Amino acid sequence: MQNSSRKTYFLLTVCLLLAGLAGAAPSLAADAAFDGATGVLTLPVVDVPGTGVLNVGLRLSKDNPIEFTLQSAQIYSTAVTLNSKSARVRDGGVLYIPSAQVGSQLYELNMTLIKQDPITFGNLQVLGVSNVIPPAPDPLQLSITAGEARYAQLCASCHGSNGGGAVQGPSLISGLTTFSPLRVKINNTMPQGNPSACVDSGSSTCATDITNFIINRLQR
Ligand code: HEC
Repeated sequence: MQNSSRKTYFLLTVCLLLAGLAGAAPSLAADAAFDGATGVLTLPVVDVPGTGVLNVGLRLSKDNPIEFTLQSAQIYSTAVTLNSKSARVRDGGVLYIPSAQVGSQLYELNMTLIKQDPITFGNLQVLGVSNVIPPAPDPLQLSITAGEARYAQLCASCHGSNGGGAVQGPSLISGLTTFSPLRVKINNTMPQGNPSACVDSGSSTCATDITNFIINRLQR
């Protein structure tokens, strides 16, 4: 830091702690660099094959305690996002880098502070990789979506695409507006002339799905 033109290159030992976790192993390009002139620590590129590449730079904001803030991040995929937490030195000189989400996996990196003057970090590690579980889709929404498609195929010709009624069938907006009677009517009698085309049976949930669609979309 005293010599503003000095660049300190880090010795890196890449150690990936990925045992037992699914997904492509990331590769970490082994040349993090601290630029004494700018105070920017550029971290190794995290490259997860098939998913994306992340390249992070941190700026040294204080000497004591050593603290870095995120300076820049180049993200070469929409599947990659960076945790907004700032990097921090903790636990005997371990530099924690904001975690990165690459696809469905979360990467946490760290580097160990080896010397304070000049500042030297080494031993880059992936601290952990955890799978980010996407929120389970709402079953009602899935049913409504399925019902919308079935309604268009089987019902709209007689009842209108908005359920307002047409030449061959009455409006569905009022009348049967509660789940059970509506489902039973559809299951047992509709589509008129071909009621077996839409029944709840085995893996088919046609009557339930269309009922959910009518109540939650057409009748609202
Ligand atoms: C060939 C035309 C036709 C098709 C296709 C059809 N319907 Fe009907 N639907 C009718 C007619 C006519 C009536 C009125 C007679 C009756 O209630 O059976 C009716 C009545 C209904 C009723 C009762 C309305 C009320 O409030 O009394 C519901 C609910 C209904 N249909 C839903 C559906 C659904 C859901 C589908 C698609 C799976 C469908 N229909 C397909 C002609 C049709």
